[in-house]
Amino acid sequence: MSRHLLSAGDLTRDDAILILDTAAELARLADRPIKKLPTLRGRTVVNLFYEDSTRTRTSFEAAAKRLSADVINFSAKGSSVSKGESLKDTALTLEAMGADGVVIRHEASGAPHRLAGWIRGSVVNAGDGTHEHPTQALLDAFTIRRHLGSLDGRRVTIAGDVLHSRVARSNVLLLKTLGAEVTLVAPPTLLPVGVGSWPCEFSYDFDAVLPKSDVVMMLRVQRERMNASYFPNAREYSRRYGLDALRMAALPEHAIVMHPGPMNRGMEIAADVADSVRSVIVEQVANGVSVRMAVLYLLLGGSESAIGGAPPAGAEASADTAGWAAPPLGPDEGEGAVVDNGLRRRRTDLEALDISAVPEEAL
Ligand code: MLT
Repeated sequence: MSRHLLSAGDLTRDDAILILDTAAELARLADRPIKKLPTLRGRTVVNLFYEDSTRTRTSFEAAAKRLSADVINFSAKGSSVSKGESLKDTALTLEAMGADGVVIRHEASGAPHRLAGWIRGSVVNAGDGTHEHPTQALLDAFTIRRHLGSLDGRRVTIAGDVLHSRVARSNVLLLKTLGAEVTLVAPPTLLPVGVGSWPCEFSYDFDAVLPKSDVVMMLRVQRERMNASYFPNAREYSRRYGLDALRMAALPEHAIVMHPGPMNRGMEIAADVADSVRSVIVEQVANGVSVRMAVLYLLLGGSESAIGGAPPAGAEASADTAGWAAPPLGPDEGEGAVVDNGLRRRRTDLEALDISAVPEEAL
């Protein structure tokens, strides 16, 4: 794992479980009247959004603010980007303003990877083109764990517009790492070329797969990315691949229904299914904040003063005080080594963190 979160495929099982466990602890904050920790006080997180987004941007913003980071929201519309500024120049400008972490959403697959090569801060991929959306996969895994316990051997069906879905790609990678068995379901036109080499099964027959599913995750039909006709019409699509009440009844009793949103009600999911007791769609949104808090916490590092006491003198220089602040990259340390240690150090902090003990006056 690097000091960035670019792909769900970069996470080892231990990394992923660390993030999910950390999120579970941070989720306890939601029950407090003041939902805030001073952990990232003094750190700056930039939300660099080149594509429209409601839930992901606000979720990252809420996560960073709950950890007391300063948040700069940058949206390409109305910025120098419309005057032709490149991603690199925008990124360097933001870094010059002191960004410790940049959360980027971009319509080009691979943009976060490029950014990670240009700036010193941590980069979090919040969705790049049709490529990946790792924090969505983490919040999905978190939600499944909450409902069904361990993911080992769980059968997850991901149905819909797989071709254009970064959510599907990140989920296939992460769920596989966590031991789940994933089946992708779509018409042949909406499955990517080469899907046979992905670490999952695929099927064109939704009805055959449903009775064996512990989870069914519906994907939005992404019309804005379609440059051709992928199915005859909306009615035909939902007849074959939409999740309606009849299909939901074919699921095992314990199965849950998910959707990353935004939903096309009546297209890939019927309104009564989206609002049913089996649907955990609203909960996914709430869990997204806890998971993104965990990611920011683990990548940017907490300051122990935030969780009870001031750092001792010379804290930055001492190995046994690691965890007061994110360590700078050492001259002979590979990126992986630093980050790996960084994650584990942050975890040590968190073990000492008793959320209920943080005085609210400290915020
Ligand atoms: C995404 O940003 O990929 C969304 O969460 C899913 C979608 O747009 O359908």
